[in-house]
Amino acid sequence: MIGKLNHIAIVVPDLTAAAALYRDTLGAQVSNPRDVPEHGVTTVFVELPNTKIELLHPLGDQSPIAKFLAKNPAGGMHHLCYEVEDIKAAAARLTASGARSLGDIKTGAHGKPVLFLHPKDFCGTLIELEEV
Ligand code: CO
Repeated sequence: MIGKLNHIAIVVPDLTAAAALYRDTLGAQVSNPRDVPEHGVTTVFVELPNTKIELLHPLGDQSPIAKFLAKNPAGGMHHLCYEVEDIKAAAARLTASGARSLGDIKTGAHGKPVLFLHPKDFCGTLIELEEV
């Protein structure tokens, strides 16, 4: 059911410093920061040959990642995103198997339908499914 690894998201306390680290120290291609107010985050994308790294920083006081950063002040890995062809079919299959999602299918930071899956049901890792 799951396809390619679309991205790995890392929450960072300082987006400028993190972007510089990936660009200058690690020599990667890094995007400009982009505010995504409807998700309460500012993102920088690091383009790798086989996937992307999504650097995330809270935007506004309702940010869903503010608590994560409070618990992990140095930053940390936040979620993995796997591609699926049909997100409704994926959601139905997961529900049938007893796995829990966090909320319903919604439009993600890239304008595509996404669904987040409960970390307790997936080896302690928050998983995002994105329809491609
Ligand atoms: Co993501």
